[in-house]
Amino acid sequence: MDKNFWKNKQVFITGHEGFLGSWLTKILIEAGARVIGLDIVKNRKQIVLNQKGLRKRIKGIKGNVANMKLVKNIIDQEKPEIIFHLAAEAIVGRSNKNPITTFKSNIEGTWNILEASRGKSFINSIVIASSDKAYGSHDKLPYSEESELKGDHPYDVSKSCADLIAYTYFHTYNLPVCVTRCGNIYGPGDYNFSRIIPDAMRCVNNDKTLIIRSDGKFVRDYVYVEDIVEGYILLAEKIKSLNLAGSAFNFSDENPITVLEILNKLFEIASKKANYKILNKAKYEIKKQYLDSKKARKVLGWKPRYSLQQGIKKTLLWYKSNLV
Ligand SMILES: NC(=O)c1ccc[n+]([C@@H]2O[C@H](COP(=O)([O-])OP(=O)(O)OC[C@H]3O[C@@H](n4cnc5c(N)ncnc54)[C@H](O)[C@@H]3O)[C@@H](O)[C@H]2O)c1
Repeated sequence: MDKNFWKNKQVFITGHEGFLGSWLTKILIEAGARVIGLDIVKNRKQIVLNQKGLRKRIKGIKGNVANMKLVKNIIDQEKPEIIFHLAAEAIVGRSNKNPITTFKSNIEGTWNILEASRGKSFINSIVIASSDKAYGSHDKLPYSEESELKGDHPYDVSKSCADLIAYTYFHTYNLPVCVTRCGNIYGPGDYNFSRIIPDAMRCVNNDKTLIIRSDGKFVRDYVYVEDIVEGYILLAEKIKSLNLAGSAFNFSDENPITVLEILNKLFEIASKKANYKILNKAKYEIKKQYLDSKKARKVLGWKPRYSLQQGIKKTLLWYKSNLV
């Protein structure tokens, strides 16, 4: 990242209390940016943002991104130069249970950010968190940015829609917006225990049996959170200078792996005997999904710094000292 670029930059981050948002906020504050955050939760307890007095340096606003008036007020008053829109219902199971809340947060929330940014000349970059799930299910692997967006289930569809809406705000209104499509992100500070890696970390540390909902054979990308943050930051820095508005970028480590393979690795690194039970009850999930990140490597000069081994080690250590 270019620290000079971020010094005193006015940055608006939605979802700054979440797993990825808290890391992004932490790293940008450390680089000298002035961060305004919007999240439906305020002062979440166990996230990386609660270190070294970082919280005192954020202007945190509690509120819903689906509230247009609020979003407009924040953008009009704070005049951010850069916007990262991460706020979303990000848990697939909860999205299946509550599709309408998911659509409001993920689709309406996205159009609010874009509409409130329309015609605002002080905004130079908008990065919208889409997802690998926006692609839905394809036989042709790995997925490139050209793959069709055709989610099937509520979370996936919410991301396909948000992704297309972002594109139209570039295409029709010339907004400086890009979208990110990331594989499974893991790392310290993810307290979403319905996700396999945080759940596995907790089970390993507490010597509990890990319950696997799928058959363990689903194939995915896993990327360490600081690598993803770096991707977001590089993209925001370069939207204007490299004329990238309207583009999408995949971010993955391009080492697809099955659920059982990653779990066995995790148990091995923790020096514990593998202890899990396979339920084989996962519904509505894509069997094989992984991304091609050539474009991010070529255009942004991005590549993951952490191998799976290094990332898991760091994550395990963090959960060990932060869970009990
Ligand atoms: N974690 C992953 O593996 C992954 C992969 C691809 C894409 N993404 C996307 O990245 C973004 C961040 O994901 P995360 O893993 O940090 O999830 P997270 O659940 O930890 O963070 C999301 C944050 O958004 C907030 N939020 C939810 N609905 C909101 C609303 N209506 N208004 C304001 N705030 C709201 C939540 O309180 C939470 O703090 C999401 O958009 C997600 O879809 C995540």
